[in-house]
Amino acid sequence: NNQVAPPVSARIPDYACQRHTPLQHHNTKFTDALEILEKYADLRYDDQDYSRALAFRRASCVLKSLSRPLSRLSEIQNVTHIGSHSQKVIQEILEDGTSEEVEKICADPWFQKMKLFTAIFGIGPARAKEFIAKGWSSIQEVRDGCTSSDWRIQWGLAFHEDLTTPVTRAEADYILGVVRRHVDRVLPGAVMELTGGFRRGKQTGHDVDILIMHPLENKIIGALPRLLQSLQSHDIVLCGRHERSTYHEELLTQNTKLSPRGQLDHFEKWIGIIKVPNKIRIKNDQSDKTSSHQLGNNKCNTDMKENKDKCENRNFQSDKNTDSCKRDVGNESVLYQRQEDTLDSGSAISDSLEDVWESLDKASSSSSPSHGNPREVKASQGDWIARRVDLIISPFSQFFYALVGWTGSKQFNRDARTYAEREMNMKLSSHGLYDFNQGKQLVASSEREVFDNLKLPYFEPQDRNC
Ligand code: GTP
Ligand code: MN
Ligand code: MN
Repeated sequence: NNQVAPPVSARIPDYACQRHTPLQHHNTKFTDALEILEKYADLRYDDQDYSRALAFRRASCVLKSLSRPLSRLSEIQNVTHIGSHSQKVIQEILEDGTSEEVEKICADPWFQKMKLFTAIFGIGPARAKEFIAKGWSSIQEVRDGCTSSDWRIQWGLAFHEDLTTPVTRAEADYILGVVRRHVDRVLPGAVMELTGGFRRGKQTGHDVDILIMHPLENKIIGALPRLLQSLQSHDIVLCGRHERSTYHEELLTQNTKLSPRGQLDHFEKWIGIIKVPNKIRIKNDQSDKTSSHQLGNNKCNTDMKENKDKCENRNFQSDKNTDSCKRDVGNESVLYQRQEDTLDSGSAISDSLEDVWESLDKASSSSSPSHGNPREVKASQGDWIARRVDLIISPFSQFFYALVGWTGSKQFNRDARTYAEREMNMKLSSHGLYDFNQGKQLVASSEREVFDNLKLPYFEPQDRNC
């Protein structure tokens, strides 16, 4: 044992938001196994005991940040985030190449059914368990027996194959382009960012997350309904639902408990499904074949395939003095600049908001959030595929916190929020950062400033893949 590498533990910071976590790392055979254990614990033990699942996620997260493949357990034995159960599994994989416990879980029919059912849009673990209790084991049995009137479940079931086919980068770019054209019409001057996994450099995802902002704080009022009307008039939208903003300033300081499945925010958003021409995906599929890579030993074969990643280098540069910031994408540089709002502040805003929502409510009571019968739409499906899209709209003042929040990963956010609370006596959310020591909110006009305010080194989105 005298040739053991220096202890890795000495160099591993406590929080994932303090570590580089690239998408491609050296320890997938361990992290794939640990993430199956995480998923299993999540499905098995529900919300009450999410800590079990989190323990595996934390261990996996540490291994992803190592700069070399783990060769001995002694290298990580004293790392606080790697508990005894995770150590046991890692040891097994070091010795045998696979973990018997993980193999068993992958072969467990209950786990397979739970994964199958929770992959349906709108179905969580509780509903999935009901399906299993009814004796169902296939999507067809759920289609035949499920009577839920929830629009997500109805569309999720009808378009299940579409929605579980990974969304490609080319499709995400296409969707961003389509939304941008409509945004330019209904909200000129708006800034849009592709967030979520794609911004972290992933080549595939389960959906497309788009964050929209306008430098004039009040311009976003009513913009999302107009955007959706515009998209709908071009027959792009399959179904979806608006959620109005539930934000109020007290939320910045309120000591809300971090919810196990990742805290929900209070932005106005649209969650839905849109159509993308098949040719967009097929073009991408062909280029994928040359870059596919081998799956880890303990990877259940039902998992979505991840492709090799190419990251775009996106940088935000801020200029505190002019209250503006620049973003560089290739040779292009976009200036985000706060402008003076022309609308009166105060009651005028809330009045106009009420008007917008009133008309929206009227519209949604006359027509359901979906257009037509999902099964009939599926039966007459043309040369397109259904894709999940999240559109989030943020005021300028919250934009960079929203950008960090919606870029993720979920674990990165969890750790950043815990770090802020425990180490800095601050509260971090997608709406802002409140410093309890100074008794004030800390503004950010770039992503870098969000990290600065937290006294964290800056990490590029592609290093936030925990
Ligand atoms: P794939 O879509 O599977 O590629 O993964 P993803 O990382 O993009 O996950 P997802 O689309 O579920 O969410 C994108 C990011 O936004 C994640 O980091 C989430 O933590 C975050 N997110 C999702 N929903 C919410 C929400 O309601 N509020 C906030 N603040 N963040 C959210
Ligand atoms: Mn996503
Ligand atoms: Mn999403």
